[in-house]
Order: sequence, then structure tokens, then C-alpha cells
Amino acid sequence: MGLPYNMNWAGLLQILLVIIHTSQVTCGSIQFSVQEERKPDTLVGSLSKHFQPPYQLLTQEYLWMDEHTGNFYTNERRIDRESLCPEETKAEGCFVLHNAIVGPSGDLVQFPVIIEDINDNAPHFQNSEIRLKVSEDVAVGSSFVLDDLAQDADTGHNGQLSYHLQGSGGDFSIKAKEDELLIMLVVQTALDREIRDLYQMQLVATDCGTHPLNTSVVLTVTVTDVNDNCPSFGPDSPRSTTIPGDSPKNMVVTRVIATDPDTGPNGAIVYSLSPQVSERAKKLLTLDSRTGYIRLKQDLQNNNSEELVLKVLASGPHCPPADTWVTISVLPKATQDLTIKIGFIAEHHNQTMVLPENQPPTVLAVLELEGDSSSKGSSLAIEGDMPFSLSPQSGKYLLSTSKPLDYEIQSEYHISVVVQGISSESSVISLSRQVIRVMVEDVNDNAPHFLQSHYQLEVEENNQPGITLLQVSASDADSGNKGRVTYRLHEYTSAIFTIDSDTGQMSVLAPLDREQQQEYKLTVFARDSGSPPLESQATIIIRVLDQNDNAPVFSTPHFIFFIPENAPPFTQVGRIEVIDLDEGENGSTELRLGNSSTPFVVDNTQRTLRTTTSLDRETVDHYELYVLVSDSGYPVALTSTAIVTVFVEDINDNQPKVILPSSNSSCLALSPSTLVGSTITKIYAIDEDSGLNSEITYSVIAPGPAQQTNPFQVDSRSGDITLNHQLSQKDMGMHHLFIVVRDNGKPTPLYTTVWVNLLVNESTEHCTLDRAPTWTGTSDLVQSPSMAPICEVKPVRSDLYMYVGMILMLVSLVLFLVTLCLYLKYKSLQKPKREYIKENEIPLRLKDKYYSDE
Ligand SMILES: *[C@@H]1O[C@H](CO)[C@@H](O)[C@H](O)[C@H]1NC(C)=O
Ligand SMILES: *[C@@H]1O[C@H](CO)[C@@H](O)[C@H](O)[C@H]1NC(C)=O
Ligand SMILES: *[C@@H]1O[C@H](CO)[C@@H](O)[C@H](O)[C@H]1NC(C)=O
Ligand SMILES: *[C@@H]1O[C@H](CO)[C@@H](O)[C@H](O)[C@H]1NC(C)=O
Repeated sequence: MGLPYNMNWAGLLQILLVIIHTSQVTCGSIQFSVQEERKPDTLVGSLSKHFQPPYQLLTQEYLWMDEHTGNFYTNERRIDRESLCPEETKAEGCFVLHNAIVGPSGDLVQFPVIIEDINDNAPHFQNSEIRLKVSEDVAVGSSFVLDDLAQDADTGHNGQLSYHLQGSGGDFSIKAKEDELLIMLVVQTALDREIRDLYQMQLVATDCGTHPLNTSVVLTVTVTDVNDNCPSFGPDSPRSTTIPGDSPKNMVVTRVIATDPDTGPNGAIVYSLSPQVSERAKKLLTLDSRTGYIRLKQDLQNNNSEELVLKVLASGPHCPPADTWVTISVLPKATQDLTIKIGFIAEHHNQTMVLPENQPPTVLAVLELEGDSSSKGSSLAIEGDMPFSLSPQSGKYLLSTSKPLDYEIQSEYHISVVVQGISSESSVISLSRQVIRVMVEDVNDNAPHFLQSHYQLEVEENNQPGITLLQVSASDADSGNKGRVTYRLHEYTSAIFTIDSDTGQMSVLAPLDREQQQEYKLTVFARDSGSPPLESQATIIIRVLDQNDNAPVFSTPHFIFFIPENAPPFTQVGRIEVIDLDEGENGSTELRLGNSSTPFVVDNTQRTLRTTTSLDRETVDHYELYVLVSDSGYPVALTSTAIVTVFVEDINDNQPKVILPSSNSSCLALSPSTLVGSTITKIYAIDEDSGLNSEITYSVIAPGPAQQTNPFQVDSRSGDITLNHQLSQKDMGMHHLFIVVRDNGKPTPLYTTVWVNLLVNESTEHCTLDRAPTWTGTSDLVQSPSMAPICEVKPVRSDLYMYVGMILMLVSLVLFLVTLCLYLKYKSLQKPKREYIKENEIPLRLKDKYYSDE
């Protein structure tokens, strides 16, 4: 029985309860089943058909029960059949016993819930690879048991496995026996290790579930060798050779080569001479049974030509020997009485000369043919194609180099000088030979050669100091020290670059700064150690790549701009200059205003600040803004800020505004006894513009200066109205002064006009004016103030000028004194005067605000 292996204490208690209430247990008649791995709240069954409510499930490990309906469902806990019943043989079912208390009387019932399998487990191989060795001579159809079977934890069809091969190319197949419990690999084609010694394929195990799962494992078949091949002589094994008649002992005559494709001992070859070989050949020659070399057993002293024929056998284990014929032609030894006498010119040792390479052709030796005078027809020649020549010269021969020698091409020559005679059959035969050895001495004739003449690399700025940038490499064909290359950089190279003289590794010792230098062009030299040394050079171009390491910078931390008020919208206020030393994105900057809702915008195309509306100085006369600039650098954009102050410049756009008198119909009464020179009242006007635009001048238009009746004077600057002369009876009554109030704006001043009404009467109680007087004069009032009283100058005789000048001087002096007196008097009167004004100006009271400005 498959008990839940992880049953807890509560479960045990319930089992105990079951045992105690054994008599009450109803069992065997009802059972339920549920598939493993079902979602929570899947209906499993119901007790309602069998029992009365209420229902209470005692074991709630995997199920929960509706108390009223008796339906029970899966709960959150996963039901995994394979872990619940791990030992269960596939024939038996896997179930969990559940206990419930049912009915009004509380009967205990026990019922099994069978856990049905689903195909949730794939087959599984123990190892990731199966190796098998098969001898190459196995018969087609032979089979080999594969021990590594796959396992599948599922049951029934879900756990039943079938196997097939993938990628076997038809060379192998799979045969299953005894319900797939034994599988065999069957050889389908003849194997030959010499053609193919390894097969790799996939063994796939598939279960028989409705949605089959599979798994695969690599199956490697190694074909082992059997001795199925025998040695044979190939076409490249020599069939004939020729040797001189004076060849020395142990000289290699030739080498026979047989092959056997088998491996190891199966491929071993033993050479031997056939018993049919002549005694003479056996005496002169020996065959190495292992290597196949045929050597001379003794020094040859042949005066006549001879032909030796050998039959060589090559045998392997369990093989009939292969054979080949080798014909060795022995040339006759040159006649004794013809010898070559060598007179060395170049330095030599044991007939070996050492010549430096790359020398122009030079004479090395004088050769002479000595001996029998009968052989006068003989001559000397060099065998083979060599960079040496023999030139006959008065019966002797000069041996010289025919072209410069090159150590790097060939470092040693064996010059074979032969005496050639004409045989009786008038064919050329070699009679004697002398071998002169030439060793070529290496000269430093090769400069180091850079693999690349241009190196180009890119490195990001702000690199770590000491990093390796690249490794240059130059090769030198010379040998020894002459070919030993060391590297160095050009002496004027910046000291931050170094090169390892031995390895050619170039490093940079300091961080690079692209903003300082964007590209470095270095020259690297490779020099060998010959004397004199040879050198070659290559260029290295280092491009420094940008990093966003420079924040944009404003040309000044505080921009100050001026803009006239009333300028149309989008007027340029000023240029905001920014520099970012970085490149590309990292240096592309964008301006932004730090303040929102200001009447300004930033024009990024022209780097200017512009207005959005027309500004009014009288509302706001300056703006403090801050601007931000950021680049588009990656990964972090850098920013800076600056302050911008925009002063709104004044435009004469405000008329003077008259504060005093408050209206054209205001009226002031004054007593006829008012003292001469005292200030009666004042006109006061303001102009909201600034500077000259707000400087105000007052001028009386009417009554004009010509009218002597006007006893009042208006100070053009202060607007003070003073009494000009003592009031008399004829001055009694109303005086209307028409006054132009204008500012000093350029080019056109603005003005306004006002009436000042003064009533002279004994009774200074009350003064009223029904309506303001009207101006009937010229409307060109602005020019009027400049129309000072003009004295008509009559033509005067020139001799009068002197008198006039003197009189004028006198008058000026008097005027000056009078002004001085008046000034002093004015100063002493200033304080009481103001109090006086305050007392008298009831209808013209000034607003306190404007007083404070005075
Ligand atoms: C900008 O700088 C970043 C690193 O700060 C770098 O990865 C990028 O390539 C630079 N861009 C350009 C255009 O140089
Ligand atoms: C703009 O912002 C700065 C800083 O917050 C502030 O001092 C300045 O008054 C602001 N200007 C305007 C016009 O709002
Ligand atoms: C006084 O009258 C003139 C026109 O005669 C007018 O331009 C001016 O604004 C008036 N002044 C006041 C204070 O009413
Ligand atoms: C001066 O005042 C008196 C009394 O208040 C009045 O009768 C007289 O008409 C006034 N004179 C003028 C010229 O208004």
C-alpha cells in the first residue's frame, strides 16, 4: 500500500482514530481517482451519493471537502505520483487513504483516492555518453547489447520506452528484445577501420505517453583494428640508383619503403633481402630490417662499372611478404693517376671554406688536373646547379662564386668537382671527384621587417595609466644577434609612451586627454643587433576617442543684457555663448531656461535669448534668470548654469502725469497782502520713465511773458509758483495759468498741460471753479517753451560794440551779486517756506507718497 510518506502527526492521530473506530469504518465499496499534478480546486469526487451530510474530511493533506455537499477537491498542495509512491511497482496503483466523518451520527469512513499517472517525466539516461568498441571484422548483422538503458519514472504507457537511432547513416540500427528491457546495436554495413574508425550517433529513448517525451544520449562506436592489411611497396619506393665507384663504407645507397594501413603491431613491417640476392651484393650491401635503409658494408674500390640487383622483401604478421626489385649501378672509380689539386685562395679548413654571404663573385681556389698526360682530353666540371663556376685559365681552373651567396636561402654547399673524360663510346663519363665544402657565413644584410608598416589604433581618453596599447613586431631574417630585434620609439616621442625594447609592447603611462590632443603619430624603430645594426621603422597612429569628461562652460558666469522696453516679441536680447570641449554628442549642447513663466525663451539654433512678449520697464525693470546648458553625453550628460540679468531699458513712453493740481478746475485763493517772492503753491508732476525721459520741465504758456499783468512766476524745474511783484488792486480776481509739463525724452519729449487757477481776494475762504478754462491758442505746445522772450536786436554801429560789451560786463557783475544774495536768502527761507505751503494748499494737498520722494 502506498502510504503518504510525509504524513504528519495529525495524520498519525487520524490513523489511530481510524483503528479505534474500526467497527464503524465503511470501506472497500467506494473509491475515487484523480490525476496527479491537477490544479487546486479540481473536483475529485463526492460523498453525497453514499452518505448523509454533514461531511468532514480528517486528512486534509491533499484534499479539502465541502462540509455540506460532500464534494471534495484538490487543495494547494501538489500531488506528484512519483514522489508519493516512489517504490511502487508499475503494476500496482498508487493511492492515498482518506478518512472522513459523515452523517448526522458522525460515522467514520475511509476511502482511497487513486492517483493516476500523467506523462510528466521524460526518460532519463544514467550517463551522457555510451561508448562501444566493435572490431572491424564483425559480420554484418552482429548485435551488441547496450547496458545503458533509460529510466522513466512514469507508469504504464507513460513509462514504457522505445528506442531508435539518429545520425547512424544506416551503418547501425537498434533492436529491442523482451519488451525493450534489452536493446542491442546491430551492425548494418561492413566496417573497415582503415576507412573509418569512429561513428557517433544519438540513441533516442521515447516513452509511449499520449504526448511522448524523449531524451537522447551520444552513442560512440570505436572500430578496433584487426590485421586485415598486408605491407606493400608503393610507387615511391625507389627501383634503381647509381653510386660512385669510390663510395665510402656506411654510405646510404637508398631506402626502400613499404606501407601497411593497419595500426600498432598489425602494421609492423620487417624488411629482408630475398635469398635470391647474389653473393656479391650480399657482401657489399646491408639492409636495415626496420628502416629499409640500404648501406654500403665496405669502402668501394670499383674500377669498373657494376650492377647489383636486390630483391627486397617486406613482411608483416600473418602476411605473405611483399617484394620489390632495386637495381644499384656502381660507376667505375676515376683513374688513380688523374687527381684534382686544389690551391685554396679563400681561407679554408679541411677543404671547408667559410664565405660571408652577399659578397660579389670572388675567386675561391685554383684547381689543377694532375696525372696521366694521356688523359689530356679530360676536363673539370661542377656537378649540379650551384652558385659556383669553374673557368679554365691557362690549363688551370678558377673556382669562383657565380653570384652572391645568401645565408638565408642556403647556408652550406657541397661543391662536387668531377673530372670528365670521353669514354671509348664517346660519351662523357665522370672519372674522379673532389668535394669542397662551403659554409656561408651570415652577414647582417637583412634589416628587421615590420609585419605592418602602419599601425592604427583607437583608445578612449582617460585611460588607466600603464595600459598596453599594442604590440609591434618585426622579423629579421638574419641569424643570431644579427637577427635579434629591439624596439624603440623616436626620440622626440612624448614621454608618456614607452615601448618594451624586447617584446615591442607599447604602453601609455599617463591618461590621454582627447581635448588636448586627438591623435598621436609615433614612429617606432626596430633595430637588429648586428654591427653595424640595421634598422627599419613603422608608424603608429593613435586616435584618442572622446569621453564625456568636459561639462559645457558658459563664456561668463553672469550675462548682463539690455533690451529696450516695448520691443516686439522675439527680439533678440543677447547671445549666450557656451563651449563644450568634447566631441560629437558629448559636446553638443542645449540651452534651457531655469525659470519657467518668464517672458523669455532660449533660441538654441542661434544661442540667443529672446523675448516672448514686449516688455514694460515700468512694470518690471529687470529680470534675474538662470540658464542651464547640458550636453548629450552618454551615460551622463553634464550641465552648467549661469545667471542672466536682463535690464529693460527705458523708452519715453510715459507722459508726465500731473499730481498737483489735482484737476484743471482746482482753485487756490490768496490774499493780496502775500509777500513778494513767497511761494504760493507748486505744480507737481511725475513721469514713470527713467532718466531724461522722466526729467520734467514746467513752462507757463499763458498768460505769455508779454503780458505784464501776470504777477506769478513758475520755476521750470521745481514747479514752484512764486509771487513776482506786489499784488495791487488791478491784480484782484481770478488768474488762469496755462502750464505745459513736459519731459526731456529724446527724440520727442512727451508733455501734458494743466491749468493753475489762482484767485486774489481779501477773503481767502473759498475758491471754486465751475469748469476748467479752455485753451484757445496754438496746439504746437512742445516748441513753445523754447520760445523765450526774444529781444529784437536792432542793427548797431560797430564802434558801439565796445560800450555795449562794457555795459554787459557791468550788468553781469550786478546780476551775479543779486543772484548770490537771492540764493542766500532762499536758503534761509527754505524751511519756513515749506510750512507755509502746507498751510495754504488745502485744495492741492499732495499725496504723502510723493513727498517722500523729494
Ligand atoms: C562620448 O563619451 C562616451 C563615454 O563618456 C563614449 O562612450 C562615447 O563614445 C563618446 N561619444 C563620442 C561621439 O565620442
Ligand atoms: C529665476 O530663478 C532664480 C533661482 O530660482 C531666482 O532667483 C530668480 O528670481 C528667478 N527669476 C524669475 C524672473 O523668476
Ligand atoms: C487739463 O486740460 C488739458 C486740456 O486743456 C488736458 O490736456 C489736461 O489733461 C487737463 N489736466 C487735468 C489734470 O485734468
Ligand atoms: C471777493 O470776496 C468777496 C466776499 O467774499 C466777494 O463779495 C467778492 O465778489 C470777491 N471778489 C471777486 C473779484 O471775486
